[in-house]
Amino acid sequence: MNFLQLNGLHFAYPERSEVVHDVCLQLAPGEIHGLIGRSGCGKTTVLKLAAGLLAPQQGQVQLKGERVQQPTAEMGFVFQAPTLLNWLSVLDNVLLPLSLHGSVTDNQRAYGLALLDQVGLSAHGHDKPHQLSGGQQSRVAIARALITRPAVLFMDEPFAALDAITREELQRDFLALCHAQGTAVLFVTHDIGEAVYLADHVSLMHAGRLHAACPIALPRPRQTAMRYTPAFNALCEQLRHTMDATL
Ligand SMILES: Nc1ncnc2c1ncn2[C@@H]1O[C@H](COP(=O)(O)OP(=O)(O)O)[C@@H](O)[C@H]1O
Ligand SMILES: [Mg+2]
Repeated sequence: MNFLQLNGLHFAYPERSEVVHDVCLQLAPGEIHGLIGRSGCGKTTVLKLAAGLLAPQQGQVQLKGERVQQPTAEMGFVFQAPTLLNWLSVLDNVLLPLSLHGSVTDNQRAYGLALLDQVGLSAHGHDKPHQLSGGQQSRVAIARALITRPAVLFMDEPFAALDAITREELQRDFLALCHAQGTAVLFVTHDIGEAVYLADHVSLMHAGRLHAACPIALPRPRQTAMRYTPAFNALCEQLRHTMDATL
C-alpha cells in the first residue's frame, strides 16, 4: 500500500518561474526515504509540498488515500536548526506539541521522559536548551517530533550542523526510535553517506526534477561498521555517479 503519495507535483513561488517539475514519489508505511541533491535544486520545496506547508499548482499529495492540504496531527517535523524555546525546560520543549493543544497527561509526560531517555538525555529534562550542546539540542528536537507518535516524519537536513561523530551517533539512535514507533520518514540531505545509512530508498533531485529512487539493500538494523563495507561504498559511488551524470 502506498502510504504517502506525491502525484505529478508542479510548484512555483509567487511571481517566480517553476522550481518543482512533475515530481512523483511514493512511501510505504514505515519506509525511510532520502532525498538528495545539490543546494537550490528544490529539496526543501518538495518536502514542504509533501507536508502540506505549500500547495502545488498542479498535482496532489495523499496520505493514506486522503488529500493533504495542510499539515496534520499524523505528521512530525525536524528542521536543520533545532528551534527550541529557551524559556522552557528540555522536557517542556519535548512536550510542546501536546501542551499547545491542552494540558499534558501524566502518561504523556512519562512518554516524554522515556523519549528523553532514549535520546540519551534523561539527566537533562530540567535543563534549559542553552545549557545543552548542539548535538543534544538536535536530540531534543527529534524527541519533540516523536512525542505525538507521528505516522510520518519530515526532516530537512536535521543533522547537517553536527560534527561527524555526533552525527553518526544521532543517526543510529534516530533509526532505533523510528523502528520502535514504525515511523515513516521523508528526509532531505546533501550528504550521500547519510542518505545511504538511513534510507530504504534514495531519490536524486536535480533542477526541480526527481530521478528514479534507488533501493538501499543493506540489512537492518544498520550498524556503524557498515559505513566501511564495500556494499555501502558501492551504493555511495553509484549515487555519486548518477548525480554527476545529471549535471
Ligand atoms: N520563499 C521563496 N521564494 C522564492 N524562491 C524561493 C523560495 N524558497 C526557495 N526558493 C527558490 O526555489 C529553488 C529551490 O529552493 P529549495 O527548495 O530551498 O532548494 P534546496 O532545499 O534543494 O536547497 C531555489 O532556486 C530557491 O532560490
Ligand atoms: Mg533546503
